[in-house]
Amino acid sequence: MKAYRGEILSVPEDGDVRHFEDGLLLVEDGLVASCRAYADPGVPVEHLPGLIVPGFIDAHVHYPQTERIASHGAQLLEWLDRHIFPAEKAFADPAHADAIAAFFLDELLKNGTTSALVFPTVHACSVDSLFEAALARDMRIIAGKVLMDLGPEGLRDTPDTSDSEGLIARWHGRGRLGYAVTPRFALTSSDAQLEAAGKLLAAHPGVLMHTHLAENHGEIAAVAERFPDAADYLDVYDRFGLVGPRSVFAHCVHMSDRAMGRMAEAGAGIAFCPTSNLFLGSGLFDLAQRDQYGVKLGMGTDVGAGTSFSILHTLGEAYKVCQMRGASLDPFRALHFATAGGARTLGIADRVGALLPGQEADFIVLDPAATPLLARRTAGASLHDRLFALQVLGDERAVAATYLRGSLAHKREQ
Ligand code: GUN
Ligand code: ZN
Repeated sequence: MKAYRGEILSVPEDGDVRHFEDGLLLVEDGLVASCRAYADPGVPVEHLPGLIVPGFIDAHVHYPQTERIASHGAQLLEWLDRHIFPAEKAFADPAHADAIAAFFLDELLKNGTTSALVFPTVHACSVDSLFEAALARDMRIIAGKVLMDLGPEGLRDTPDTSDSEGLIARWHGRGRLGYAVTPRFALTSSDAQLEAAGKLLAAHPGVLMHTHLAENHGEIAAVAERFPDAADYLDVYDRFGLVGPRSVFAHCVHMSDRAMGRMAEAGAGIAFCPTSNLFLGSGLFDLAQRDQYGVKLGMGTDVGAGTSFSILHTLGEAYKVCQMRGASLDPFRALHFATAGGARTLGIADRVGALLPGQEADFIVLDPAATPLLARRTAGASLHDRLFALQVLGDERAVAATYLRGSLAHKREQ
């Protein structure tokens, strides 16, 4: 049994804020045994100064784009052609994939991210590299070979799914790993491949579906031109059996009410990626529209279109996107989306996200005095104001430590 004492905050449901100013987190065999107000547990106690919250969940990120973060000058389709596709071609080399996967996962841990839904590349070896590195670190990672038979030269597969079948058999359910059928987006897959993806999803009940949806006006126009009979972009995926409770769609910036309603009805989820949407000039996600329909929602960094691996920073940018839409994102809601909301979106809410008894004890220690400015802003401040300041001003410097299943996985250098 491990016992950690400190200030603990979790938001298991939107609106259900649980806070212990002096709390005790008991961990047995990597699982939360209890999380409550401090009382002597009768075993040695480690004191963790700062604010203990559940580990962050990145609901959408591309590990092969790590080295192309901050690539200048273009919106989505041109940015893919100019900066991203050339970088992804290098992942045919397993040694390169190994090196970037290791760096990427260490960045996530530094930033307090303990679970993530990740895009590799079209190469099966890029999936192996990521899963091997995640297994070695005991991280909760969901990923799958990117399907893109209409991709550019050197980054193109076929509708045959035997590689994906092999990867599912090799990795799904091993350690804390899960598989996601991952068509890049409608424009890079033939009808035959989208159909094969739907069949693959139907054949593997525990597997997720992960793709992009309604991110950019040029993209949406190209989809409408190719699929003139579809009601909208979501409907394209729907026709191939790709819209259901295990589906996660990144972006959803430009959604009709029909599409948002259909997402809710199907139980599909959204990864809200504010830094990416701002960086590529894609648009402003409409959280109020999402709230109206009650669609599942998690936060995505979407690196390399996203500009930071920090979920704290991503929440600060989400606040600004909501401000631009005339709404004010509450910091406790924001924390919910980054933890339990993300877990629900990724189908892992029974495992992580809220420090509930029986969940895996993935948690982080935030330092509200990580920088001189943060220290001044948070001195004597309410919990609400400290949390908001961490979101607006914080990044990896504010993550003092990251724990996976109750064990220290990263400690910030002092
Ligand atoms: N749509 C298709 N591929 C991508 C990608 O790599 N990044 C983003 N942001 N959108 C995409
Ligand atoms: Zn993306």
